Amino acid sequence: MKFVTNLALLATATSVAAGPVQKIFNIVTSGATDDSNNGLYLSTQRVDPLNSNAVFRAQEDAADFYVVNDTIRYDAPNKAPYAIALVSGSEPQGDVEISVSPTTGSEGFSLTSEKKVKTSQQNFGGWLVCDGENGVQALYYENTSAGDIVPDGCDSVQLDAVFKSS
Ligand SMILES: *[C@@H]1O[C@H](CO)[C@@H](O)[C@H](O)[C@H]1NC(C)=O
Ligand SMILES: *[C@@H]1O[C@H](CO)[C@@H](O)[C@H](O)[C@H]1NC(C)=O
Repeated sequence: MKFVTNLALLATATSVAAGPVQKIFNIVTSGATDDSNNGLYLSTQRVDPLNSNAVFRAQEDAADFYVVNDTIRYDAPNKAPYAIALVSGSEPQGDVEISVSPTTGSEGFSLTSEKKVKTSQQNFGGWLVCDGENGVQALYYENTSAGDIVPDGCDSVQLDAVFKSS
């Protein structure tokens, strides 16, 4: 009888599991050759209600990100769950989008133990900060299948997850 009681207690204890708590972070550049490309905060630039470009803005306009199922998510103002995606293309300077219905290139993301944003996707040669439209710096990726040069107007960077205390 005692044995049965202990098992019941054990079952009760292990079934009390906390729900998932999303850890929110900003994404910030580091490691650029040109120091003005360091410390930039990743944000979004609306293209249409479902799609945004990945651009850099001031810290107070930074987007809040979190990791779910090897995607990096961002909740739009209307609460739609956007995700960061590498867009397929044929240029060494590959586009990055933050969209509610992203390409298959939204999977394979994670943070390293040093809290760097990485992706396991093929042909990924690193993150790039490049001159975007209207003088806004934007995020791109180096596609090694299309060439292994850093394109003009671009700087290689790392992306650091900077967790927010709450
Ligand atoms: C994560 O993936 C699992 C298994 O595919 C799925 O059941 C779950 O709904 C996913 N979570 C989110 C938040 O998408
Ligand atoms: C890289 O470039 C190739 C073509 O050269 C393309 O098929 C692929 O989608 C691009 N992006 C990735 C992430 O592989």
